[in-house]
Amino acid sequence: MNKREKFLISSLLWFTGLVLLFVIIYFLSIVKFNNAYMEEEYHELPIFQKQIEYAISPYLENKDFKSLEKYCRIFENTDVKIKIFDKDKKLIASSLTNDKESVLDESQDLNADSQNKRKFDIIDRHKIIGLVKKVQPGNEAYYLKLTVSEEDVMKILLQAQHYLFLFILLFILFVISSIIYIIQKLRIPFNVLQESVIKIANGELDTEIKVPKLELLEELAVCIKKMAQRLKNQINRLKQLEEYKSDFIQNVSHEIKTPITAINSAIELLELKNNINEQDKECYEIIVHQSKMLNSLVNDILSLSEIEVEKTGEHKNFKRFALNELIESIVNYTIPSDIKINLINKHIINLLGDKELISTAVSNLLINAVKYSKSENIDVIISCVENFAQIEVKDYGIGISQEHLPFLFDRFYRVDKARSRKNGGTGLGLAIVKNITELHNGTIAVKSNLGEGSNFIIRIPMENI
Ligand SMILES: Nc1ncnc2c1ncn2[C@@H]1O[C@H](COP(=O)(O)OP(=O)(O)O)[C@@H](O)[C@H]1O
Ligand SMILES: [Mg+2]
Repeated sequence: MNKREKFLISSLLWFTGLVLLFVIIYFLSIVKFNNAYMEEEYHELPIFQKQIEYAISPYLENKDFKSLEKYCRIFENTDVKIKIFDKDKKLIASSLTNDKESVLDESQDLNADSQNKRKFDIIDRHKIIGLVKKVQPGNEAYYLKLTVSEEDVMKILLQAQHYLFLFILLFILFVISSIIYIIQKLRIPFNVLQESVIKIANGELDTEIKVPKLELLEELAVCIKKMAQRLKNQINRLKQLEEYKSDFIQNVSHEIKTPITAINSAIELLELKNNINEQDKECYEIIVHQSKMLNSLVNDILSLSEIEVEKTGEHKNFKRFALNELIESIVNYTIPSDIKINLINKHIINLLGDKELISTAVSNLLINAVKYSKSENIDVIISCVENFAQIEVKDYGIGISQEHLPFLFDRFYRVDKARSRKNGGTGLGLAIVKNITELHNGTIAVKSNLGEGSNFIIRIPMENI
């Protein structure tokens, strides 16, 4: 489930929750309204009783029970039920067609003898209010019973509220369909815009951003377009600066190489003559050592700059080669024979990459292990981990303390400057390794503890593009 789907579902849940809340409030208000209505009826019942009493008196006086029945039927569909009983408490007229109460039901505790008694009672879980009044229009006594049941009130109220409820339901349906319509209308241009933005985020800055006709997204699309253009300009400017920098470094390095070559030729000449006296020997050795240092420094700077140029370039010079064979030849031909190197080929790997550069990276790690670790044993392990070719160079020597590890791959960073310089180190070896692995979309990591040796791990994706 993507973020947008999650958003839609949560919005829908919120909306459903709101509708439910509305329905609950609606029904609670109906109940509240009912109670208020019943309370009102409770107060109005005696007034109503007086009016009825006045209206039925002539019928009772004339004993015209037919007309009395007719009169009562007018109230058939109202919430007030009217019943009239004779002096023996037998029913003689009712507003109900088939009234089951043929004798005055005193179980409801509506005291028939009291002059004017009203009371609330609960029947079948419904509240019922009523009163019984003894009336005596002529010589004979009659009982007039008026009742209002909550059930009837509810029925009438619900009937009235039926239309309101239907209207609200239609309104909710209208709101939901409007929201769905708006979402649908937004979805297509939004998807198109999202696709373009994802492409830009993945570095395809030339992606065409289609400006949707929808006003809501138009401004956003124009802004994204501007942003992509500015980003492209900045990147081009940076690339240009990087090119200037590399050109400058390469020019300077080549310029420095010319005098170094001259110095080296002079040293060789001096060596051939073989007549350096003891006094000059020390000076001569300093010149030889420093010249070598200078030479390797210029070579390292040059190769670092070349890798950086290749990193920013679009086309990489990658070919498929046998990784195990390459590392075997490095181990056999570049490392002194007094150090034991165990080459462990866990997997045979055909890697797509720059063979020369991979060779430089592995050599740098091996030379470091030989130079610095003072370990007599070095393991080189080639394996395949997930979709990565993994090359481990593991020594069991002096190790590196934790505080140095985060900076080890920085340019010119050396743990022990004096020792490194004495060994001919420039501090660029590991920076070169890092750049080479990055050029191959890979990683370099180190695990080390002081006195326990170091393990440098290169990982390069098998399917390099
Ligand atoms: N296998 C190792 N054992 C101990 N120290 C190491 C090892 N590899 C590198 N180092 C330390 O890391 C520093 C940086 O290495 P590197 O970038 O190759 O520079 P350098 O030109 O000095 O060899 C070295 O100066 C050394 O102190
Ligand atoms: Mg080194």
